[in-house]
Amino acid sequence: MIDRQTVDRILDAANIVDVVSDFVTLKRAGANLKGLCPFHDDRTPSFMVSPSKNICKCFACGKGGTPVHFIMEHEQLTYPEALKYLAKKYHIEVKEREQTDEEKAEQSERESLFAVNEWANDWFQQQMNETLDGRAIGLAYFRQRGFRDDLIRKFQLGFCPDKYDAQWKAGLEAGYNGDFLLKTGLCIRNEAGKTYDRFRNRVIFPIHTISGKVVGFGGRVLDSRTKGVQVKYQNSPESVIYSKKRELYGLFFAKKAIVQQDLCYLVEGYTDVMAMHQQGVENVVASSGTALTHEQIRAIHRFTENIVVIYDGDAAGIKASQRGIDMLLAEGMSVKLLLLPDGDDPDSFARKHTATEYQEYLKEHQVDFIQFKTNLLMEEAQGDPIKLSRLTGNIVQSLAVIPDEITRTFYIKETSQMLSVEERIITAAVAKVRTQLREERRREREREASRQQAQGSAGTASAGPASAGPSPADAAASTAGSPLAGSSPDHSPAQQSTPPTSPARTGDPSPELTPEEEAMLAGIIPEGSVQPATTNLQSKQQREETQFLQTEQLLVQMIVRHGEKVMCEAEDENGESRPVTVVEFIQYALQEDDLQFHSPLHQRILVEALEHYQEEGFRCSRYFENHPDLAIAELSTELAHEKETLSKIHQKGIPIKPEEERLEELVPHLIADYKFAILEREMREVMQQMSSPEVLADKQRSDAIMRRFLEIKQAQTALGRQLGDRVLT
Ligand code: CTP
Ligand code: MN
Repeated sequence: MIDRQTVDRILDAANIVDVVSDFVTLKRAGANLKGLCPFHDDRTPSFMVSPSKNICKCFACGKGGTPVHFIMEHEQLTYPEALKYLAKKYHIEVKEREQTDEEKAEQSERESLFAVNEWANDWFQQQMNETLDGRAIGLAYFRQRGFRDDLIRKFQLGFCPDKYDAQWKAGLEAGYNGDFLLKTGLCIRNEAGKTYDRFRNRVIFPIHTISGKVVGFGGRVLDSRTKGVQVKYQNSPESVIYSKKRELYGLFFAKKAIVQQDLCYLVEGYTDVMAMHQQGVENVVASSGTALTHEQIRAIHRFTENIVVIYDGDAAGIKASQRGIDMLLAEGMSVKLLLLPDGDDPDSFARKHTATEYQEYLKEHQVDFIQFKTNLLMEEAQGDPIKLSRLTGNIVQSLAVIPDEITRTFYIKETSQMLSVEERIITAAVAKVRTQLREERRREREREASRQQAQGSAGTASAGPASAGPSPADAAASTAGSPLAGSSPDHSPAQQSTPPTSPARTGDPSPELTPEEEAMLAGIIPEGSVQPATTNLQSKQQREETQFLQTEQLLVQMIVRHGEKVMCEAEDENGESRPVTVVEFIQYALQEDDLQFHSPLHQRILVEALEHYQEEGFRCSRYFENHPDLAIAELSTELAHEKETLSKIHQKGIPIKPEEERLEELVPHLIADYKFAILEREMREVMQQMSSPEVLADKQRSDAIMRRFLEIKQAQTALGRQLGDRVLT
């Protein structure tokens, strides 16, 4: 952990022009500088650097940010790594923060496991390269398979000798604690208490994290003839540092090439990755023979949106991985497929071709996933109408998960042409599936919310964005003193997570169909759990929600820009006057009505500002713009540099003092606005409840809701007076 002061010194020293100039040639353009964007294939200079704001941004691809984020993105480093990079550049000595005992214990276990793995990785390589057996058996195996020595070194391949416990003994002798040799899974202790080496008599592929640390190993038996007798690959077990579903083999060696080419190949095995590198294709990772996970997809998505999945050429394999491909589509990735000739995998195929042939084959044979699937299934159905409508349903399922509307519409067109089915029908079918999926997600959210509620009522009912309160009906019946007191409950992040920046998505319009077309549709997507379409209602709600979150965001903007600044004086319990900062003021105002921000991201900004504002030299803008969490950093950078947003609440013509000098007037105004928005939001809910026949039939409930209605009305009037500029009906 780098201590706060050092972090601040690094952030203050880092000059965006300096930092970017190491990688991009910049030319003056007015107050700014311009250059070719390093993050995409840029022909006209779209990359702007602003010395005054100390940030950079590409107007074509949108990438950029503060110096730290530029380095994180460009060098593919983590936040602390990027800080250390900058520290080195500016000759700042990095002091690590003292850790708590708990942190130390946890850290030291992780560090010890990493240290043991690092040692083991060296040991395996040394066994292979420097012992007789290693060279004759291990190294010879790789060479026989056609791997060049430079590749063997690059991937740090090794060998574990055919002895019962050679590694165990060597580890102990080198001073490593036996516990850690067991916890990493390098060694195994059996019931009889005997300890032996997991990887004995295997060649070794170390598995690296994205930043190059060894988290585990894969060990392959030497003789392919033992197939079936022995497991071909033995892998490290899950441990504190190794989670199979998080890692992707080869990502560490591939990340730079993936970014450069804006494309990632996905293969199955360790040797496939190596073989492709050997053929000059370095943007490749392996799922290691298991189904893709969301974590793995997100790891790729950080670097590119484009993925080509390579298959060892049989249709069965492709069908089996259907789910993984739908997951890629759902993440918004563009997916292509590449089929290798029967019986070949990327490794065996590499051995039969030159590098140039190989690369050409890759270029020429990738096909769009949807097209591929349509062709494949059409061949299979061979004109049988029942099979054909079932396969259409299958394709529709894939189309329905594509998040981007334009892409989806494009594919719907393509598919309808390929299948010679009217576009309207496919559109209707996709809409139907999307409604089902939405319903499914909504039910899932409700389940999640009630789970959280069940947990929340048992424990801390206070704060924390995840804590759930009473249901809206309870809230409506509550007669708490403050009119806002009942309105904090529905803060569950599941409901509030619509990010304010993404425009409300309009529902998929279902075209009107003729009875014949309806019948066809029913054949494609059989009637199941389809719920009545609520899309119009939903999109209106979403719009209102977005507006509401924008109001909330104006307060967050005050925190990001001015959080640590003193805005007024207030009396404390002892009647003494003391200065109040912006973030404190906002916190008090929220607390007063038992509120917290509805967007989890906003709430995190508030909480972190409160944690730090008292620290010497702390500045919210610097802290949040450089935040390790990219979502926070991006939002904050946008908010910090947005111009004149607040002038609109002032009359035109009156000269406006800088925002910083008007905090005492601005912040309370924004708070009143925000509370007003909350009341409006709640009013909508009460109105909705009042019109439900169920409530109308229940006198007690309708009375309670009526009372709540009047309370809100009163509160609105009171607030309106305070605001002065609202007309109430
Ligand atoms: N795998 C595994 N355990 C097994 C079999 C396979 O972990 N028992 C993983 C490995 O990561 C392997 C990948 O699945 O690389 C693909 O399996 P496969 O195609 O059978 O192996 P290859 O990579 O082709 O290995 P080789 O060429 O050495 O046979
Ligand atoms: Mn193979």
